[in-house]
This record gives sequence, C-alpha cells and structure tokens, in this order.
Amino acid sequence: MSEPTIIPDPAEPDPLAPTSVDAAVRAALAAAAEATTLEDLKAARLAHQGDRSRLALANRSIGNLPATAKAEAGKRVGAARALVAAAYAARQAELEQERDARILVDEAVDVTLPSGRRPLGRRHPVMLMSDRIADLFVGMGWEIAEGPEVEAEWFNFDALNFDVDHPARQMQDTFYVDPPGGGLVLRTHTSPVQARTLLDRGVPVYVACIGRVYRTDELDATHMPAFHQVEGLAVDSGITMAHLKGTLDRLATELFGDGITTRLRPSYFPFTEPSAEMDLRCFVCRGEDPQCRACKGIGWIEWGGCGMVNRNVLTACGVDADRYTGFAFGMGIDRALMFRTGVSDMRDMIEGDVRFDDQFGMEI
Ligand code: DAH
Repeated sequence: MSEPTIIPDPAEPDPLAPTSVDAAVRAALAAAAEATTLEDLKAARLAHQGDRSRLALANRSIGNLPATAKAEAGKRVGAARALVAAAYAARQAELEQERDARILVDEAVDVTLPSGRRPLGRRHPVMLMSDRIADLFVGMGWEIAEGPEVEAEWFNFDALNFDVDHPARQMQDTFYVDPPGGGLVLRTHTSPVQARTLLDRGVPVYVACIGRVYRTDELDATHMPAFHQVEGLAVDSGITMAHLKGTLDRLATELFGDGITTRLRPSYFPFTEPSAEMDLRCFVCRGEDPQCRACKGIGWIEWGGCGMVNRNVLTACGVDADRYTGFAFGMGIDRALMFRTGVSDMRDMIEGDVRFDDQFGMEI
C-alpha cells in the first residue's frame, strides 16, 4: 500500500527541514532518557516513534519531494529514526533490567526467618476417649444410641424406678428446666437412654450411649456441673451377670491395657437389681504397690455403677421381664480420663487451655 500523500501546510514548519528532524530526535532522546518506568517509555515511544510522531510525519513527507531530493532526505530521516529506535531499545533494556532487579529485591524470601506456621489444633481428649469407647462397642456389634440432654423427668427418673422422694430428684442434684413443674430436666445421667432405647427399638438390644450429663455440683477439682458418661445396655434372652463382667473387662482392657480387669462390689441403684459398683484394677501399680498414688494403695479405682436391669424398668418399657433379662452399666468418661492421664484437677480439662489438648488430645 502506498504511503498517503502529505499536503504541506504552509503554516507548519517543514517536517523535513534538518532543524525539525534534529529537534524531533532530541525530543525523542530526551523523552527516552526521562522515562523511569516501562510504562513511561511506552508512552514516549508512541509519541516519538508512533505513526503520528514528527519523525513519522517527516518520513511520510519524503514522498512529496522531487525525485532528486528524495535520496538525501530518506537517508537523513532514516538515520534519525534509526538513532531514536536504538536509543529506545537501549532504554527498554535498561528499564527491564531495573525492573527485574527490583522484583528480585521486593520478592526476596528470607528462608532463615522463623516460620509463622500456626500450631495444629487437637481434639479434646474427652472426645477422643468417647470415640475409642464407641469404636469398641461398634466392633462388638453393638449400636450407638443417643438421647436428648434436656430430658423428660419421666425418662430421667420414673422410668428408671426412682421413687418420687428419691434424693437425686431434689434440687441440689438436678437442674430443672423452666417452667417449674414442666416435667423437664437436664439429664443427670445417660441412663434415661436405656428406657428410650427399649421403647424405640424393642428387644433384643445392645446399645452404648455416650453423652453429656448435668448436675448442680459446684465446679471444683473433682466435680463439674457438666460431664460425660458412657451407658451400656444389653437385653436379650439368657443375659447374665457373667456377660456384664466380661463386657466391662473388655472395656477396661481396651482403655487401660492388658491385664486391667474389673471387680464388682454390691451396691444399690433403683434401675438395677442386683446392682454393683464397678472398680478398675489400678493400671499404675496393678495392685502391687501399697504406696501407689493412683489408687492410694487400694489396688482398685472406683469407676462406675452397673447391674442387671430391674424388672420394673423392663416392664415400664414394655419388655416381657419373664422372657428377657439384661445388664446395664454407666461410668464417667472425664473421670476415666483423669485417672488415665494423671490429671488431678478436673478444671484443667475444661478451661480450654490448648496446652492441655496438646498434651493429651492426640493418640499415636
Ligand atoms: N446412672 C448412674 C449414675 O449416673 C450410673 C449407673 C449405675 C448406670 C448403674 C447404670 C447402672 O446403667 O446399671 O450414677
């Protein structure tokens, strides 16, 4: 395509005049030198080398010259444009180098700086122990049952054969839920899940329930107003106390190590008959150190209650007590964690201090 013909404007200085070309070159070189960033240089290049620049105009004006003058003007303008192009290329290289050097400094990483890595969180050790217990029972073919923490008084007490004047019903043990007389309490144990399960699932049934329970105890080294229990219930034909003992021994061994078994001492609970307190073989001294701090030299550690499900409970829940028998047990998980880890103050377990979880909230 031929270059457009430039009609010279008499009012404008001749773009091809040596002074004009020199001035255009000077201006172009000055602009290149002044550009301190690649963006500046790009703008300068457009102004001084672009289609509408003075040098481009001069170049296009050559076409208007008589043939005799064309060669000389072409040489001159060509040399001027080459000079400017070389200057811009050089400045471009310089600015690129500066930019690269700056990036290297700005984005440098000091690999010797201490890292800001956040410490990993841990699961609360009570949850870990709960999961282990649940896993054990699921592994034995039991089911996991759950019940509400705001529980009907009937499930928490009546269905479990508590007399109307049983001391545990009194205000000092039980959180009653407003309105007074509304029949709702914060469950004081996980045992109401026994009644719920029998009514919901019928028999035979093998369930473990792990959950939070509440009592109006002041928070101190050995009491918490909210804590955790595991409840077990097995009802089938032919269930005996031997099954209970075998199950408890299995649980104790799983949580505390080989050879750690249990012993039962006669006791009383309204919902079991016969009832027993359950003690754990001291897993520190195994009953061999009269000076042992874990068991105070007794050789056994009290852990929970258990027994054969009371006929009245079976009957209240619609189970034929002549055909079916069952066992039940319940113990504190926080308490187990306490003696398993040697923590002597329960408050350490609920203060939310990550150092506690760091120490015990991980299992290998
Ligand atoms: N619920 C009782 C408590 O919180 C513990 C208990 C005792 C649970 C005997 C049972 C049981 O299932 O059979 O003190």
